[in-house]
Amino acid sequence: MNSPLRDPAILNDWHPVGIAAGLAAGQQLPTQLLDLSLVVWRDSNGAVHAWEDRCPHRGMKLSMGQLEDDRLHCPYHGWSFGIDGHCRHIPALPALQDAQLKARVTRFAVQECHGLIWVCLGTPANAVPAFPELADARLRKVWCGPYEVLSSAPRIIENFLDMAHFAYVHEGILGDRAMTAIRDYEVNAFDDAEYGRGIRATGCYAWQPRPNSLATEGGDVEYTYRVVRPLTAILTKEPQSQDSFREAIGLHLQPLTETTTRAWIILAMTNFEQSDEALRQFQDTIFLQDKPIVENQQPLRLPLVAGAEVSASCDRMSLAYRRYLKDEKLRYGVITAE
Ligand code: FES
Ligand code: CO
Repeated sequence: MNSPLRDPAILNDWHPVGIAAGLAAGQQLPTQLLDLSLVVWRDSNGAVHAWEDRCPHRGMKLSMGQLEDDRLHCPYHGWSFGIDGHCRHIPALPALQDAQLKARVTRFAVQECHGLIWVCLGTPANAVPAFPELADARLRKVWCGPYEVLSSAPRIIENFLDMAHFAYVHEGILGDRAMTAIRDYEVNAFDDAEYGRGIRATGCYAWQPRPNSLATEGGDVEYTYRVVRPLTAILTKEPQSQDSFREAIGLHLQPLTETTTRAWIILAMTNFEQSDEALRQFQDTIFLQDKPIVENQQPLRLPLVAGAEVSASCDRMSLAYRRYLKDEKLRYGVITAE
Protein backbone atom coordinates (compact mmCIF):
# COMPACT_ATOMS: atom_id res chain seq x y z
CA MET A 1 0.00 0.00 0.00
CA ASN A 2 1.34 3.41 -0.96
CA SER A 3 0.92 5.59 2.08
CA PRO A 4 -0.52 9.00 1.18
CA LEU A 5 1.94 10.44 3.71
CA ARG A 6 4.76 9.46 1.38
CA ASP A 7 3.09 10.96 -1.68
CA PRO A 8 3.54 14.76 -1.80
CA ALA A 9 1.72 14.91 -5.18
CA ILE A 10 -1.54 14.05 -3.45
CA LEU A 11 -0.83 15.08 0.15
CA ASN A 12 -0.09 18.71 -0.78
CA ASP A 13 -3.02 19.07 -3.18
CA TRP A 14 -6.56 20.30 -2.45
CA HIS A 15 -9.38 17.75 -2.51
CA PRO A 16 -13.15 18.35 -2.43
CA VAL A 17 -15.04 17.02 0.61
CA GLY A 18 -18.50 18.58 0.42
CA ILE A 19 -20.92 21.17 -0.95
CA ALA A 20 -20.24 24.53 0.71
CA ALA A 21 -23.91 25.57 0.79
CA GLY A 22 -24.81 22.24 2.40
CA LEU A 23 -22.91 23.03 5.60
CA ALA A 24 -24.69 25.60 7.77
CA ALA A 25 -23.17 27.45 10.75
CA GLY A 26 -23.06 25.13 13.75
CA GLN A 27 -23.14 22.01 11.58
CA GLN A 28 -20.55 19.27 11.28
CA LEU A 29 -19.83 16.89 8.42
CA PRO A 30 -17.97 13.61 8.94
CA THR A 31 -15.95 12.68 5.88
CA GLN A 32 -12.82 10.87 4.75
CA LEU A 33 -9.75 11.79 2.72
CA LEU A 34 -6.65 9.73 1.91
CA ASP A 35 -7.47 6.99 4.47
CA LEU A 36 -8.07 9.56 7.21
CA SER A 37 -11.40 10.31 8.96
CA LEU A 38 -12.15 14.03 9.08
CA VAL A 39 -14.76 16.20 10.68
CA VAL A 40 -15.48 19.40 8.78
CA TRP A 41 -17.55 22.02 10.60
CA ARG A 42 -18.72 25.60 10.25
CA ASP A 43 -18.47 28.02 13.16
CA SER A 44 -20.94 30.75 14.09
CA ASN A 45 -18.95 33.32 12.06
CA GLY A 46 -19.24 31.20 8.93
CA ALA A 47 -15.63 29.95 8.85
CA VAL A 48 -15.06 26.30 7.98
CA HIS A 49 -12.68 24.04 9.92
CA ALA A 50 -11.27 20.62 8.97
CA TRP A 51 -10.04 18.42 11.82
CA GLU A 52 -8.91 14.87 12.17
CA ASP A 53 -12.05 13.05 13.34
CA ARG A 54 -10.29 11.58 16.33
CA CYS A 55 -10.28 12.75 19.92
CA PRO A 56 -6.68 13.01 21.18
CA HIS A 57 -7.81 11.47 24.51
CA ARG A 58 -8.93 7.95 23.54
CA GLY A 59 -9.46 8.15 19.80
CA MET A 60 -13.25 8.58 19.73
CA LYS A 61 -14.81 10.14 16.62
CA LEU A 62 -15.49 13.77 17.46
CA SER A 63 -18.08 13.99 14.69
CA MET A 64 -20.35 11.80 16.85
CA GLY A 65 -20.32 14.48 19.56
CA GLN A 66 -22.07 17.83 19.89
CA LEU A 67 -21.05 21.14 18.40
CA GLU A 68 -22.07 23.92 20.79
CA ASP A 69 -20.91 27.55 20.98
CA ASP A 70 -18.07 26.89 18.51
CA ARG A 71 -16.76 24.02 20.63
CA LEU A 72 -16.80 20.39 19.60
CA HIS A 73 -17.60 18.08 22.53
CA CYS A 74 -16.34 14.51 22.44
CA PRO A 75 -19.16 12.05 23.14
CA TYR A 76 -16.96 9.71 25.24
CA HIS A 77 -15.69 11.76 28.24
CA GLY A 78 -16.96 15.17 27.20
CA TRP A 79 -13.64 16.89 26.54
CA SER A 80 -14.35 19.99 24.45
CA PHE A 81 -12.19 21.65 21.81
CA GLY A 82 -12.24 25.26 20.60
CA ILE A 83 -11.74 26.72 17.10
CA ASP A 84 -7.94 26.60 17.47
CA GLY A 85 -8.17 22.85 18.20
CA HIS A 86 -7.05 23.20 21.83
CA CYS A 87 -8.83 21.34 24.60
CA ARG A 88 -10.82 23.85 26.67
CA HIS A 89 -12.47 21.66 29.28
CA ILE A 90 -12.21 18.20 30.83
CA PRO A 91 -15.44 17.49 32.74
CA ALA A 92 -13.77 14.87 34.99
CA LEU A 93 -11.20 17.49 36.09
CA PRO A 94 -13.22 20.71 36.10
CA ALA A 95 -10.62 22.69 38.08
CA LEU A 96 -7.97 22.46 35.35
CA GLN A 97 -7.12 25.82 33.79
CA ASP A 98 -6.43 26.54 30.10
CA ALA A 99 -2.64 26.39 30.56
CA GLN A 100 -2.92 22.88 32.02
CA LEU A 101 -5.00 21.55 29.12
CA LYS A 102 -2.40 20.23 26.69
CA ALA A 103 -4.54 18.13 24.33
CA ARG A 104 -5.18 19.44 20.84
CA VAL A 105 -6.90 18.12 17.76
CA THR A 106 -4.98 17.89 14.47
CA ARG A 107 -6.23 20.60 12.09
CA PHE A 108 -5.88 20.82 8.31
CA ALA A 109 -5.98 23.55 5.67
CA VAL A 110 -9.50 24.11 4.37
CA GLN A 111 -11.19 26.58 2.00
CA GLU A 112 -14.37 27.11 0.02
CA CYS A 113 -14.11 27.44 -3.76
CA HIS A 114 -16.32 26.62 -6.80
CA GLY A 115 -19.20 25.93 -4.37
CA LEU A 116 -17.26 23.07 -2.75
CA ILE A 117 -15.27 22.69 0.47
CA TRP A 118 -11.63 21.70 -0.19
CA VAL A 119 -9.13 20.21 2.25
CA CYS A 120 -5.37 19.78 1.99
CA LEU A 121 -3.79 17.34 4.46
CA GLY A 122 -0.23 18.56 3.84
CA THR A 123 1.19 21.94 2.86
CA PRO A 124 -0.77 23.37 -0.09
CA ALA A 125 1.48 23.47 -3.15
CA ASN A 126 -1.10 25.09 -5.48
CA ALA A 127 -4.40 26.90 -5.45
CA VAL A 128 -7.64 24.95 -5.94
CA PRO A 129 -7.73 23.98 -9.65
CA ALA A 130 -9.09 26.75 -11.87
CA PHE A 131 -12.56 26.35 -13.41
CA PRO A 132 -12.98 29.53 -15.50
CA GLU A 133 -16.49 28.72 -16.78
CA LEU A 134 -17.84 29.02 -13.23
CA ALA A 135 -17.04 32.74 -13.36
CA ASP A 136 -19.10 33.16 -16.57
CA ALA A 137 -22.34 34.73 -15.33
CA ARG A 138 -24.12 33.71 -18.57
CA LEU A 139 -23.78 30.04 -17.70
CA ARG A 140 -25.97 28.15 -15.31
CA LYS A 141 -24.25 26.10 -12.57
CA VAL A 142 -25.48 22.79 -11.20
CA TRP A 143 -23.68 20.62 -8.66
CA CYS A 144 -24.16 16.87 -9.18
CA GLY A 145 -23.35 13.84 -7.07
CA PRO A 146 -21.52 12.96 -5.04
CA TYR A 147 -21.13 9.51 -6.54
CA GLU A 148 -19.44 6.76 -4.53
CA VAL A 149 -17.21 4.54 -6.64
CA LEU A 150 -15.37 1.39 -5.59
CA SER A 151 -12.32 2.16 -7.69
CA SER A 152 -9.26 4.37 -7.72
CA ALA A 153 -9.57 8.05 -8.63
CA PRO A 154 -7.18 7.77 -11.64
CA ARG A 155 -9.37 5.03 -13.19
CA ILE A 156 -12.34 7.41 -12.94
CA ILE A 157 -10.46 10.32 -14.52
CA GLU A 158 -9.24 8.09 -17.33
CA ASN A 159 -12.79 6.92 -18.02
CA PHE A 160 -13.92 10.56 -18.15
CA LEU A 161 -11.28 11.23 -20.84
CA ASP A 162 -12.35 8.27 -22.96
CA MET A 163 -14.70 8.68 -25.93
CA ALA A 164 -14.49 5.21 -27.42
CA HIS A 165 -16.82 3.76 -24.76
CA PHE A 166 -19.74 6.10 -25.57
CA ALA A 167 -21.34 3.75 -28.11
CA TYR A 168 -21.14 0.85 -25.66
CA VAL A 169 -21.67 2.19 -22.15
CA HIS A 170 -23.89 5.17 -23.05
CA GLU A 171 -25.62 3.81 -26.13
CA GLY A 172 -28.62 5.87 -27.20
CA ILE A 173 -27.47 8.91 -25.20
CA LEU A 174 -23.81 9.71 -25.95
CA GLY A 175 -23.15 7.18 -28.71
CA ASP A 176 -24.45 4.69 -31.22
CA ARG A 177 -23.06 1.33 -32.30
CA ALA A 178 -23.46 2.33 -35.94
CA MET A 179 -21.13 5.32 -35.35
CA THR A 180 -18.24 3.97 -33.32
CA ALA A 181 -15.23 5.44 -35.16
CA ILE A 182 -13.17 8.02 -33.26
CA ARG A 183 -11.67 10.74 -35.43
CA ASP A 184 -8.07 11.79 -34.82
CA TYR A 185 -7.64 14.39 -32.15
CA GLU A 186 -4.67 16.32 -30.78
CA VAL A 187 -3.09 16.02 -27.36
CA ASN A 188 -0.66 18.53 -25.92
CA ALA A 189 0.62 20.10 -22.73
CA PHE A 190 -0.64 23.60 -21.98
CA ASP A 191 0.14 26.41 -19.57
CA ASP A 192 -2.19 29.39 -19.77
CA ALA A 193 -3.72 32.10 -17.61
CA GLU A 194 -7.21 30.60 -17.85
CA TYR A 195 -6.78 27.02 -16.73
CA GLY A 196 -3.20 26.96 -15.44
CA ARG A 197 -1.04 24.01 -16.38
CA GLY A 198 -1.92 20.53 -17.57
CA ILE A 199 -2.62 18.39 -20.61
CA ARG A 200 -5.47 18.70 -23.05
CA ALA A 201 -7.08 16.89 -25.96
CA THR A 202 -8.57 19.17 -28.59
CA GLY A 203 -10.70 18.54 -31.66
CA CYS A 204 -12.47 15.54 -30.12
CA TYR A 205 -15.51 14.98 -32.32
CA ALA A 206 -18.27 12.52 -31.58
CA TRP A 207 -21.64 11.88 -33.15
CA GLN A 208 -24.23 11.71 -30.41
CA PRO A 209 -27.87 10.61 -30.49
CA ARG A 210 -28.59 13.35 -27.88
CA PRO A 211 -25.87 15.98 -28.17
CA ASN A 212 -27.40 17.82 -25.20
CA SER A 213 -30.04 17.08 -22.61
CA LEU A 214 -32.76 18.87 -24.65
CA ALA A 215 -31.89 17.47 -28.09
CA THR A 216 -34.45 15.48 -30.00
CA GLU A 217 -32.14 14.37 -32.81
CA GLY A 218 -28.51 13.32 -33.22
CA GLY A 219 -25.60 15.57 -34.07
CA ASP A 220 -21.85 16.15 -33.82
CA VAL A 221 -20.28 17.57 -30.69
CA GLU A 222 -16.76 18.92 -30.32
CA TYR A 223 -15.09 18.44 -26.96
CA THR A 224 -11.89 19.66 -25.35
CA TYR A 225 -10.68 17.62 -22.39
CA ARG A 226 -8.32 19.17 -19.87
CA VAL A 227 -6.51 17.49 -16.99
CA VAL A 228 -5.47 20.27 -14.62
CA ARG A 229 -4.49 18.14 -11.61
CA PRO A 230 -3.93 14.42 -11.08
CA LEU A 231 -7.54 14.08 -9.86
CA THR A 232 -9.30 16.95 -11.68
CA ALA A 233 -10.51 16.99 -15.28
CA ILE A 234 -12.64 19.55 -17.09
CA LEU A 235 -14.53 18.85 -20.29
CA THR A 236 -15.63 21.79 -22.42
CA LYS A 237 -18.11 21.55 -25.23
CA GLU A 238 -17.05 23.92 -27.96
CA PRO A 239 -19.79 26.28 -29.23
CA GLN A 240 -21.37 25.18 -32.52
CA SER A 241 -22.49 28.67 -33.51
CA GLN A 242 -21.58 32.32 -32.91
CA ASP A 243 -24.41 32.86 -30.47
CA SER A 244 -23.81 29.86 -28.24
CA PHE A 245 -21.40 29.62 -25.31
CA ARG A 246 -18.73 27.19 -24.23
CA GLU A 247 -20.20 24.77 -21.70
CA ALA A 248 -18.15 22.86 -19.17
CA ILE A 249 -18.33 19.80 -16.94
CA GLY A 250 -15.84 19.61 -14.07
CA LEU A 251 -14.97 16.29 -12.48
CA HIS A 252 -13.41 16.69 -9.03
CA LEU A 253 -12.45 13.56 -7.13
CA GLN A 254 -12.20 12.98 -3.41
CA PRO A 255 -9.89 10.00 -2.83
CA LEU A 256 -11.28 8.19 0.24
CA THR A 257 -8.78 5.34 0.00
CA GLU A 258 -6.59 4.18 -2.89
CA THR A 259 -9.49 2.20 -4.33
CA THR A 260 -12.59 4.05 -3.11
CA THR A 261 -13.50 7.48 -4.43
CA ARG A 262 -16.23 10.09 -4.16
CA ALA A 263 -16.89 11.99 -7.39
CA TRP A 264 -18.21 15.58 -7.46
CA ILE A 265 -19.41 16.98 -10.79
CA ILE A 266 -20.08 20.65 -11.56
CA LEU A 267 -21.99 21.65 -14.67
CA ALA A 268 -21.70 25.10 -16.24
CA MET A 269 -24.32 25.03 -18.99
CA THR A 270 -26.46 27.13 -21.30
CA ASN A 271 -29.53 24.98 -20.67
CA PHE A 272 -31.92 27.30 -18.81
CA GLU A 273 -35.07 25.36 -19.68
CA GLN A 274 -34.73 22.30 -17.46
CA SER A 275 -34.85 22.11 -13.70
CA ASP A 276 -31.70 21.48 -11.65
CA GLU A 277 -33.23 18.12 -10.80
CA ALA A 278 -33.64 17.15 -14.49
CA LEU A 279 -30.02 18.12 -15.24
CA ARG A 280 -28.82 16.14 -12.22
CA GLN A 281 -30.87 13.14 -13.30
CA PHE A 282 -29.25 13.22 -16.75
CA GLN A 283 -25.80 13.32 -15.13
CA ASP A 284 -26.79 10.54 -12.68
CA THR A 285 -27.85 8.35 -15.62
CA ILE A 286 -24.50 8.81 -17.37
CA PHE A 287 -22.42 8.38 -14.23
CA LEU A 288 -24.29 5.29 -13.06
CA GLN A 289 -23.56 3.72 -16.45
CA ASP A 290 -19.83 4.39 -15.99
CA LYS A 291 -19.72 3.21 -12.36
CA PRO A 292 -19.96 -0.59 -12.92
CA ILE A 293 -17.31 -0.28 -15.64
CA VAL A 294 -14.66 1.41 -13.50
CA GLU A 295 -15.55 -0.81 -10.53
CA ASN A 296 -14.83 -3.92 -12.57
CA GLN A 297 -11.59 -2.93 -14.27
CA GLN A 298 -8.64 -4.92 -12.96
CA PRO A 299 -6.49 -3.84 -11.27
CA LEU A 300 -8.44 -1.08 -9.54
CA ARG A 301 -5.32 1.06 -9.25
CA LEU A 302 -4.26 2.56 -12.58
CA PRO A 303 -1.20 0.72 -13.91
CA LEU A 304 1.54 3.16 -14.93
CA VAL A 305 3.85 0.28 -15.78
CA ALA A 306 4.76 0.09 -19.48
CA GLY A 307 3.16 -2.89 -21.20
CA ALA A 308 0.62 -3.57 -18.42
CA GLU A 309 -2.29 -2.81 -20.79
CA VAL A 310 -2.57 -2.61 -24.57
CA SER A 311 -3.50 0.77 -26.04
CA ALA A 312 -4.72 1.91 -29.47
CA SER A 313 -4.14 5.26 -31.19
CA CYS A 314 -7.54 6.57 -30.02
CA ASP A 315 -6.24 6.13 -26.45
CA ARG A 316 -3.63 8.85 -26.82
CA MET A 317 -5.30 11.11 -24.20
CA SER A 318 -5.36 8.23 -21.73
CA LEU A 319 -1.68 7.57 -22.44
CA ALA A 320 -0.91 11.28 -22.02
CA TYR A 321 -2.74 11.19 -18.66
CA ARG A 322 -0.59 8.24 -17.54
CA ARG A 323 2.58 10.11 -18.54
CA TYR A 324 1.29 13.22 -16.74
CA LEU A 325 0.75 11.20 -13.55
CA LYS A 326 4.30 9.85 -13.84
CA ASP A 327 5.65 13.40 -14.30
CA GLU A 328 3.65 14.55 -11.28
CA LYS A 329 5.15 11.56 -9.40
CA LEU A 330 1.72 10.37 -8.26
CA ARG A 331 1.95 7.13 -6.27
CA TYR A 332 -1.46 6.93 -4.57
CA GLY A 333 -4.14 5.08 -6.57
CA VAL A 334 -1.68 3.92 -9.22
CA ILE A 335 0.70 1.02 -9.76
CA THR A 336 4.23 2.15 -10.47
CA ALA A 337 7.21 0.05 -11.50
CA GLU A 338 8.95 0.26 -8.11
FE1 FES B 1 -12.69 11.92 23.74
FE2 FES B 1 -12.20 10.67 26.01
S1 FES B 1 -12.08 9.90 24.02
S2 FES B 1 -12.98 12.64 25.72
CO1 CO C 1 -18.80 7.31 -19.66
